[in-house]
Amino acid sequence: MDKGAGTEELTEIRHEVFRRHRPDPEPRTVEIADPPRPWREASDYRAAVARWRGQRVDAWEAAIAGAVGEGETGAFLVWGDPSLYESTLAVVQEIAARGALAFELEVIPGVSAVHALTARHRIPLNRVGRAVQITPARLLAEGLPKGVDDVVVMLDAHAIFTTIPPEGIDIYWGAYLGMPDEILRDGPLDEMAPEIARLREEARACKGWIFDTYLLRRR
Ligand SMILES: C[S@@+](CC[C@H](N)C(=O)[O-])C[C@H]1O[C@@H](n2cnc3c(N)ncnc32)[C@H](O)[C@@H]1O
Repeated sequence: MDKGAGTEELTEIRHEVFRRHRPDPEPRTVEIADPPRPWREASDYRAAVARWRGQRVDAWEAAIAGAVGEGETGAFLVWGDPSLYESTLAVVQEIAARGALAFELEVIPGVSAVHALTARHRIPLNRVGRAVQITPARLLAEGLPKGVDDVVVMLDAHAIFTTIPPEGIDIYWGAYLGMPDEILRDGPLDEMAPEIARLREEARACKGWIFDTYLLRRR
């Protein structure tokens, strides 16, 4: 999936995966342009999102029909693991439900940003016998949920960790995990939040995009 200008590096990394792991015979690749997401300001945002979803399903269906012949195997490369904050499965299942194309679907698990993060920090995800919550940052506006001591935060556009009361909390942060520009920081949230916020802004300004994930752990 080509998500437009500024994300060429993400496409290039996928080609690198092929070069390293499927060099011979090199698979045929098909790049599908993702239709631009509707603006939040669109007059009827819900209708605009529904239209956008439909355009994506159309584009993906046409790509499968055009590129994968009878008896052949096609694959969608998914970032991280396909089960986590990912629409690929939903789109492909919608194509199957339309019924114009008949195919069997297999899901191959990947390394999610969550597991890349814990591996790079060499920490377990959970504490003994305890629960872990994985959440998009926008659900943390009110701070850490009651009764949850370990929260993995993804999709943070606004450095929400700088607004959370930091007492008794450690942060384990990683940006561009598993990539050449990987950055890691960890420590008490009150000490680390300003530095991590600055690093994020510098990295975003330098590369034009950022992917970061962090674990907030109550001491
Ligand atoms: C649309 S979600 C996709 C998650 C992906 N399916 C996974 O399993 O990691 C995108 C979010 O995942 C996290 N993410 C994905 N790749 C990352 C990476 N290499 N380093 C740090 N965070 C990453 C970021 O929080 C980003 O905002």
